[in-house]
Amino acid sequence: MLKQKELVGLFEQSVVDDNFVRLTLSRNIDKTATLRKAIIKLVFIKKKLHFSIVYRHATNDITKNFGLKDGYPMIQELMDNTFLNAALFTTEKDWFYELNKNQERLYANKPTFTKVPKRVHDKQKPKLIVNTSYLVQLGILDEKGRVQKDKGAKYKQIKKFVEVVESLLKKNPILGKEGTVQIYDMGSGKGYLTFALYDFLTNNAQIDVKLTGVEARPELVTFCNEVAKKDNFKQLSFKEGFISNFTLPKTDILIALHACDTATDDAIHKGIEAGARLIICAPCCHKQIRKQFNATKPLDSITAFGILKERQAEVVTDTIRALLLEANGYKASIFEFISTDHTGKNVMIIGQKEEMPIEKEPILDKIKALKQSFGIKTHYLETLLK
Ligand SMILES: C[S@@+](CC[C@H](N)C(=O)[O-])C[C@H]1O[C@@H](n2cnc3c(N)ncnc32)[C@H](O)[C@@H]1O
Repeated sequence: MLKQKELVGLFEQSVVDDNFVRLTLSRNIDKTATLRKAIIKLVFIKKKLHFSIVYRHATNDITKNFGLKDGYPMIQELMDNTFLNAALFTTEKDWFYELNKNQERLYANKPTFTKVPKRVHDKQKPKLIVNTSYLVQLGILDEKGRVQKDKGAKYKQIKKFVEVVESLLKKNPILGKEGTVQIYDMGSGKGYLTFALYDFLTNNAQIDVKLTGVEARPELVTFCNEVAKKDNFKQLSFKEGFISNFTLPKTDILIALHACDTATDDAIHKGIEAGARLIICAPCCHKQIRKQFNATKPLDSITAFGILKERQAEVVTDTIRALLLEANGYKASIFEFISTDHTGKNVMIIGQKEEMPIEKEPILDKIKALKQSFGIKTHYLETLLK
């Protein structure tokens, strides 16, 4: 492996000459492996130079830092046994190494980077998910903590959801300062997001919470209660019930993630009635108003196309939900929860209770106008709130 040796020499020299930018190793020998790349940079940690290696897997990145003494053999090992390609970026030249059927190739190009990057340690985001035992029991991670095949999208959604709640809590610092925070998760399903939220709030944010999942399917309720018991999540429990029949006691946060069709409206209604400070929902399917659509001109040009009618129904349903939240004293926001690459159900509606009273009439007028434009007679949430 003469050319590989030459590349390693160039790499080591670039570190000594301080013109090293980055070394990227790619094309895993094992095509089935989840590890796709290793990206190596130099960073100062406690005033000492280290290699920071990002191990890029199909669904996640793992970063590890090594002192130079340990780092060089680690990188050599990756080049010998894991990766077939290497790209060395220095401020002098870019070097590319490839190994194909035992044939080595090494060539240089003009440098992509003309300045050495700041050797600062990327501040790692603090881990929001501390405990992973429940993720294993729920089938998201395997025993070794690796994301199970086909669960990558759900795992991303879980992490994103916890991030969203973290940022909402920063904006609502009052939560948790007035005793136990009461949270209800309506249509909690297998509890993926419920467990992660409980774990984050209690073990990371150190907030005293009582979280209850409400779910129509009894087998899921039993399963989730067993997992909660195994993990010693004492203030987390699951109850069997239908959202519309469920009596909510004092509630601080109401959650409804991917609750089917009008179950989202039932949940928002319950949250408003219970005076929840925060209402967080990610609607699922939107059938209720689509059936009534009879759009006026020129909107009828849009609803004439099946798929656009469907999308328009989603947009109008969620807009009316947000306006109804506003009419009932909430500041509403709607944003993309998680990229559409991971799920089609990716819109999140948040209602944060306003401190000041609001003027209801202008908002109700907006809803009326919107309904008229699309020929909608009833929006389910509106009828619940009457
Ligand atoms: C798509 S799953 C979502 C589960 C979980 N919230 C999540 O996002 O991973 C929807 C869950 O809501 C439950 N569900 C739907 N309508 C319901 C209702 N009216 N009352 C209680 N549970 C309901 C279903 O049984 C199902 O488990």
